[in-house]
Amino acid sequence: MTNADHNTLKTHYYNYINQFDIDKYFLDEKFFNLFIDIIKLFSKSPWTTQEDIFTQFKITSKASLITINKIIRNCKLAQTLILKSGIGKKYWNTIIPFAKTVEKTLDNQYLFPQRIALFPGVSCMFYCGFCGRDQSQKYPMSILEDSKKTFDKLFSEIPSTSALSISGGLEPLTNSKIGEIITSAKNNNIKVPLITNGFSLSENFLKKTPGIWGLDSIRVSLYGVDKDSYQFITRVEKSYEIVKKNAITFLNLRNEINKDLKFGFNFIIIPENVNQLNGIISLIKEINDNVENGEGVNFLTLRDDYQSVTGNAESFDTNRKYKLDSKMDNTLRNKLIDKLKEFEKYKDTLCPNLYIDYGYSLEALSNNIFDKELIKVTHKNMRNFGFTQMSVAIDLYGDVFIFREAGFLNRSGNEKFIIGRIDQNKSLEQVIKEFLNKNEEIKYDYQDERFMDSFDHVITSLVNQAEKDRSFGISFHKGPVLDRCNAKDVKLGNSWYQDYN
Ligand SMILES: C[S@@+](CC[C@H](N)C(=O)[O-])C[C@H]1O[C@@H](n2cnc3c(N)ncnc32)[C@H](O)[C@@H]1O
Ligand code: SF4
Repeated sequence: MTNADHNTLKTHYYNYINQFDIDKYFLDEKFFNLFIDIIKLFSKSPWTTQEDIFTQFKITSKASLITINKIIRNCKLAQTLILKSGIGKKYWNTIIPFAKTVEKTLDNQYLFPQRIALFPGVSCMFYCGFCGRDQSQKYPMSILEDSKKTFDKLFSEIPSTSALSISGGLEPLTNSKIGEIITSAKNNNIKVPLITNGFSLSENFLKKTPGIWGLDSIRVSLYGVDKDSYQFITRVEKSYEIVKKNAITFLNLRNEINKDLKFGFNFIIIPENVNQLNGIISLIKEINDNVENGEGVNFLTLRDDYQSVTGNAESFDTNRKYKLDSKMDNTLRNKLIDKLKEFEKYKDTLCPNLYIDYGYSLEALSNNIFDKELIKVTHKNMRNFGFTQMSVAIDLYGDVFIFREAGFLNRSGNEKFIIGRIDQNKSLEQVIKEFLNKNEEIKYDYQDERFMDSFDHVITSLVNQAEKDRSFGISFHKGPVLDRCNAKDVKLGNSWYQDYN
């Protein structure tokens, strides 16, 4: 917070009290200091509860906190500082559209999910050590026809306020109807981002799958920066060469067929690859140099491992070639601060137009500020009814999963996360309403949090915070963040290539 910000906030604070006839008791400087402290705290810790604030700042009455919150809610600069200036910025970006509907989630009322992750993959050819899939499983090809019809029906039911993404589960491009699925979504005015490992994205595949050009964006998961590092993660010998070649082919065709389609890579930073950051930039430069007719790679997302597999008990997720065991620790994260500085410089030199999205917790590190790992909850704090109002995943069978890392075919232990199955006669609305009406809590066991990805952890933390604030008597609409209670204009970010407001 700059001195100028501080002065503007001061003017706002005292003017507000005088203008709106607030008790003169709040003119005491200690309340102005509290006003500033709350703004600072929320900008770095979006999960702070009202009770935390009450205790931490030794506030003596809830009514005082409610008044200070109101002054913050009504100050534009305070709102900007909270939502956009601190290390919590990425979290706030995700949270806001969901905070607006949190009351419905707390009351177990039906709402069409705001986010649907569709998992149409039949199988996968890679064996990534951090991925929760059961590597022995694949869907029968015989269901593709019916699945496509089920998805057609689903797309016709998705309201414009909800967002769809295609990912896995397994590898979405192993579904021979993927082009038709994308076209069907697009015909229903749905913007589609797709996540793939890029192995199948060959020239031949692209010729046979014109529907792919209807995507809004495509994010290829990058599993290394050269032959050995790629093979180490994927266990497939030619994976590096093939993905690199496919990226070049895709970009050249993209520039002819649909220039608006954004292409990017995702890279998961784990202890084994922290030294590969500059290698990503060299690889992207090499790819871009082979694109002759326009833009190259548009964006790069850098992510933490959300530990679906790593760090969990040996007895879980055993059906696999290998597991990655090591976890990022604080020493490594501290080192990452310097590495990211170097990386930024290298990127500015070789790929100045590349948009980098650091995701939740790397954002702080990239700004030279130490931050611990991703926000994560344990099985003790998972929501017993999920948060179907906000997010579900749906697989090729039409099974509806309340958490996204549960959506791997027959992943051991995932049955309890399936709340029903959609088909050509049964809508998503019916499945969710039946689940909510049954009113049967899902019971969680040790390390069940491995069935959640980073988004699920974030949303769980949000709902838990809202529950605590409500029971403390200062729910979101009496809290300090205006956008959390302003139910109108729910705008969902649905891409990786730009920041959403
Ligand atoms: C499960 S994959 C499915 C789609 C496709 N097979 C792929 O790899 O891109 C979806 C995304 O999750 C990422 N992912 C898998 N396990 C992860 C983990 N433990 N932490 C962070 N991201 C992970 C993958 O890299 C990929 O970008
Ligand atoms: S992360 Fe994707 S590519 Fe890797 S094993 Fe899992 S599904 Fe396959």
